[in-house]
Amino acid sequence: MKFFLDTANVEEIKRVNRLGLVDGVTTNPTLIAREGRDFEEVIKEICSIVDGPVSAEVIGLTTEEMVNEARVLAGWAPNVVVKIPMTENGLAAVNILTKEGIKTNVTLIFSVAQGLMAAKAGATYVSPFVGRLDDIGVDGLDLIVRLKQTLMNFNFETEIITASVRNLEHVEAAALAGADIATIPGSLFPKLWSHPLTDKGIEQFLEDWKKVPAKK
Ligand code: E4P
Repeated sequence: MKFFLDTANVEEIKRVNRLGLVDGVTTNPTLIAREGRDFEEVIKEICSIVDGPVSAEVIGLTTEEMVNEARVLAGWAPNVVVKIPMTENGLAAVNILTKEGIKTNVTLIFSVAQGLMAAKAGATYVSPFVGRLDDIGVDGLDLIVRLKQTLMNFNFETEIITASVRNLEHVEAAALAGADIATIPGSLFPKLWSHPLTDKGIEQFLEDWKKVPAKK
């Protein structure tokens, strides 16, 4: 399973990248706005830190606007993946961009049908949003299970990025469901390698170590 960081914060990316755990990064307009920095500058800096795919999202809503923006974004670095919203115009844009060899990540996926359409249009990645489904009382992880099975049924090469991840259970269940990728917020990522019993165990060992007699 691959892990992406769902952040535009360079310090968060550097912290996890140091551990060799970052396979890619996803951003969206909200995450970019949070940094208060120029879009192009942030994406280029992230691309220089991370070897893997870095998603940058278009803002336009017409196919023409999306395609034009996508061509610019793809020129910023070789590892830029263009994030396209899951709309009819978005699918048309993915169809064009795929033929040009530009990688796409179709975002805001909330149903198996949407994921299937995006894969069929040629998306490199699809991003089903589990947390936002949970928020409206729908089981977001169930979408991951059903979408994975659906794409496997027809051997699509499109990879599933489990997005809108809010907790450890989302990550573990996505892994169990065979999701190719989970994109994890910078604030949640450290919880993947932490456990209170680990901290307690270290504390106890260090306390007990003090009782070991020094060499005479
Ligand atoms: C990533 O691709 C998505 O934009 C992100 O995971 C959305 O997360 P949110 O629902 O917590 O905003």
